[in-house]
Amino acid sequence: MGAYDDIFRASVEDPERFWLNAAGALDWNVAPTRALDSSNPPFYRWFPDGELNVAHNALDRHVDASRGDQAALIYDSPVTGTQRTYTYSQLRDEVARFAGVLTHLGVAVGDRVVIYMPMVPEAAVAMLACARIGAVHSVVFGGFAPKELAVRIDDATPTVIVSASCGIEGKRVIEYKPLLDRAIELSAHKPAKQVILQRPQAEASMGENDVDWVEAMNAATPADPVPVRSTDPLYILYTSGTTGKPKGVVRDGGGYAVALAWSMPNVYAVDAGETIFTASDVGWVVGHSYIVYAPLLAGATTILYEGKPVGTPDAGQFWRVVADHKVKSLFTAPTAFRAIKKEDPKGEHLPTYDVSSLKYLFLAGERLDPETYHWASDTLGIPVIDHWWQTETGWPIVANPAGIELLPVKPGSPTRPLPGWDVQILDIAGKPVGAGEDGAIVVKLPMPPGALPTLWNDDERFIRSYMAAFEGYYLTGDGGNIDDEGYVYVMGRTDDVINVAGHRLSTGSMEEVLASHPDVAECAVIGVADSMKGQIPRGFVVLKAGVEPDEDTLRGELVQLVRDQIGAVASLKDVAVVAALPKTRSGKILRKTMRGIADGHDEPVPSTIESADVLDALRPVLRRE
Ligand code: COA
Ligand code: AMP
Repeated sequence: MGAYDDIFRASVEDPERFWLNAAGALDWNVAPTRALDSSNPPFYRWFPDGELNVAHNALDRHVDASRGDQAALIYDSPVTGTQRTYTYSQLRDEVARFAGVLTHLGVAVGDRVVIYMPMVPEAAVAMLACARIGAVHSVVFGGFAPKELAVRIDDATPTVIVSASCGIEGKRVIEYKPLLDRAIELSAHKPAKQVILQRPQAEASMGENDVDWVEAMNAATPADPVPVRSTDPLYILYTSGTTGKPKGVVRDGGGYAVALAWSMPNVYAVDAGETIFTASDVGWVVGHSYIVYAPLLAGATTILYEGKPVGTPDAGQFWRVVADHKVKSLFTAPTAFRAIKKEDPKGEHLPTYDVSSLKYLFLAGERLDPETYHWASDTLGIPVIDHWWQTETGWPIVANPAGIELLPVKPGSPTRPLPGWDVQILDIAGKPVGAGEDGAIVVKLPMPPGALPTLWNDDERFIRSYMAAFEGYYLTGDGGNIDDEGYVYVMGRTDDVINVAGHRLSTGSMEEVLASHPDVAECAVIGVADSMKGQIPRGFVVLKAGVEPDEDTLRGELVQLVRDQIGAVASLKDVAVVAALPKTRSGKILRKTMRGIADGHDEPVPSTIESADVLDALRPVLRRE
């Protein structure tokens, strides 16, 4: 038995003790006397009698412990040619000041603040400022269109929205303010104010409800941290479900902070004073957890990188960042490495930089294909650690715990469950399957701290989506198996969620958009394999009887419609007009069969099919023959 086995066993044999012990890493205004309240399953609450402030723990605690002059956050932006370092003292002061801005604008404990920003340090400042005053932030990824933002505004009903005049995508400047204005026009709920960070690349025109970030900061009185209950929400993060309505994943402060603080040294092998570079976006869970909260809770230095792995200026940027800031652990999605590999297959940019500080590469967000795994590990010559988790879980479920011990790697598996995660595989009837057999990946309840306690204002959907399929288990939505050595293999989603360039999207919501076109009778969107983005959506539409549009024009309109309604991030570029869609006799579209054929598998014709002729006619389109 190694160190990992001992720690894992301790976490399952005595979770109370394990997690109370982990909670000792934080400052509590009221220390928790117990770890878990399981009196109302499946609504489990961590550290129910504890009180703390997460922003104090992320900032003030380190300043108080003489880390004030250490770099907390380094903004590295090749797209604007900027590098800016915030020490723990400076970041604490900025956050306290912006907390004062929010308080002045009427934001109180429990109020929501929507943050719609590009990758600028002010995004992290806004998040932490909310945490400081006990407000609940909801960050919306900048690649979403106004309608998606409006849906989130209506669900979260924010008092204030924080945004910026623009984002920068490679060489393109994307104006955010018109998108925000449009979203507020579309939403039924209207925030009291919008705080806008003016960026020099595009000045936004300001309306009467808009407040200038700099002016507000200059006038603000810094606010002190407000202790809140451990179980109070720290944030809501919307994620794609199977319908057009996103799920508002709620994150409680105490459990999340304990789990993240535990994960930094034990999983990511990053201690106070060391540097982690998470190349993601604050709009995704990876950004929430490992750009903002976890590194700061650990007293480490975090890199907030504005740019792509390739393009502006070249495919050597990740190595440059590692060398410039002495990064120890790099965390990104496999798609970023596929993008680098495509542009620089021989890794010729690498020798230009001293990357000797880099000890580990962590990859998550989508399946790590063996080719990318081998390329990354051969090119860098360091352990490449695949790990599996979700917006819902807040931190990894399955990983190779580099900070405890490196377990032998089996390519294709993110390795073994982390403490507190009782991962099992069930068949359709809810029975455990044997080693190596595929089934639904579930987690036996209760889940460890950090995992979602519920969905925002929707306990019923929480139960329906995650808890109803198998009583006593959380349904991850992924399928896979566990081998006889306890290694978990994640084979992919079993629902209509797809992963495009590490971004989680719903094919159901794209179908809703395509179906709204007046010429479309019915449609299907499936995620098909893509060598760069992992998966990309493809749309198939059947026209209404008697409608005969120019097909090229229609295809263009449909692509644009998805871009306008969901956002560029949907990456739907391919829509085919077809005569009919293959269905079962009960009328269900055979999306899984379509996906298999599109991915080049020899799919058998399902026995439940209504008409095999329809599938035969579609086969060449799916295979792009
Ligand atoms: N604001 C506005 N638009 C955005 C955006 C943002 N924050 N993020 C993406 N977009 C746009 C892109 O510009 C692109 O627009 P286009 O179709 O007009 O070119 C579209 O949305 C699709 O973006 P993306 O899927 O990211 O493709 P890309 O070609 O721009 O970049 C990668 C591909 C692989 C380089 C990039 O996705 C990446 O670095 N991913 C890895 C890291 C990551 O973010 N992981 C997420 C979770 S770990
Ligand atoms: P998100 O909620 O955006 O983080 O996406 C979560 C989903 O991404 C999971 O349910 C998986 O389908 C997929 N995913 C994340 N990490 C991995 C991984 N390491 N291997 C396979 N799939 C992954």
